[in-house]
Amino acid sequence: MTNQPGRNDLAGKNIVTVFGGTGFLGRRIVTRLLDKAVDVRSVSRHPHKYKLDTVSGQRPSQEIEADILDSSSIAAAVAGSRAVVNAVSLYVERGEHTFERVHIEAAADLATASRDAGVEMFVQISGIGSDPKSRSNYIQARGRGEEVVKAAFPGAVIVRPSVMAGPDDAFITTIARLVRILPIYPLFGEGGTRLQPVYVEDVAEAVSRLASGQYSTDASIFECAGPRIYSYRELVQEIATQLNARSRLVPVPFAVWSIVATAAEFLPAVSLTRNQVDLMRRDNVTANDLPGLEELGIQSRGIEELVHMIEHEA
Ligand SMILES: NC(=O)c1ccc[n+]([C@@H]2O[C@H](COP(=O)([O-])OP(=O)(O)OC[C@H]3O[C@@H](n4cnc5c(N)ncnc54)[C@H](OP(=O)(O)O)[C@@H]3O)[C@@H](O)[C@H]2O)c1
Repeated sequence: MTNQPGRNDLAGKNIVTVFGGTGFLGRRIVTRLLDKAVDVRSVSRHPHKYKLDTVSGQRPSQEIEADILDSSSIAAAVAGSRAVVNAVSLYVERGEHTFERVHIEAAADLATASRDAGVEMFVQISGIGSDPKSRSNYIQARGRGEEVVKAAFPGAVIVRPSVMAGPDDAFITTIARLVRILPIYPLFGEGGTRLQPVYVEDVAEAVSRLASGQYSTDASIFECAGPRIYSYRELVQEIATQLNARSRLVPVPFAVWSIVATAAEFLPAVSLTRNQVDLMRRDNVTANDLPGLEELGIQSRGIEELVHMIEHEA
């Protein structure tokens, strides 16, 4: 892997298009690219949803409304791009928004349209644990999504984050809120699942380094995770200790969580999904043989910084 700062200066076509550029990860990727003076096109269905917090105070060069499910709008959205990042998510299936449709078919359509438009670099955001053979339809769709993207866009780079933490995340902040108010904290199973939470800003920096051409690489998969592996029980305990909370941790069988998540998915604001329960059944840590943040020159930060932030916001 070589550092090639000059590649960023390619004349003419230097737009990086971020599908899902208003999301939890996507808008940080946009921010990081803008801070590297890269022209960014942010694409989503609701482009003006979030404000960006850039060092330079810039907005994306272009904020485009498009739906990844609408193949006619994809071609226009990727036209003239040097690189395209797919950071679109789907956590709960509703109507035509199925895991198959979004994470496999639409990902393939976007990769194909990017190849046809002469895009040089395609980055697919997936997740650690993605497995085309999994019995979980979410995890399987993420794994198959990686395969179809690689087939449609030879040389595509897959970035698999571990569970991401940030001030507005749905994981660490939820644990922090619950350990403060609940005298008894329900664990997923015995709480033995191993996790390696990563700071969302570190993943955004990694993606921006790949998409901006700051790093060229022959590697096709990067797994981005934090510096420390915790069991789920240790993680909850660590957060509770840092927040001086005294919740008692109690094991709850996964079968119970699956029932709770199935019911929760019918609520308008979904707080727990079946795919989250599926993901919590297996360890979510990096494979030793794949490159990650370190190979991209990023020193990953632990969750302590974040819990400290949450503590001072409360
Ligand atoms: N969050 C985590 O801890 C985590 C961990 C591992 C992997 N990941 C992966 O990282 C990626 C980003 O996740 P995230 O948590 O940042 O997601 P997110 O906050 O839900 O953001 C999703 C983005 O995609 C856009 N989007 C959704 N459906 C779309 C569609 N049909 N067409 C165009 N844009 C669409 C959303 O904007 P609109 O709704 O306005 O369109 C938003 O900008 C996903 O692949 C996710 O699976 C996340």
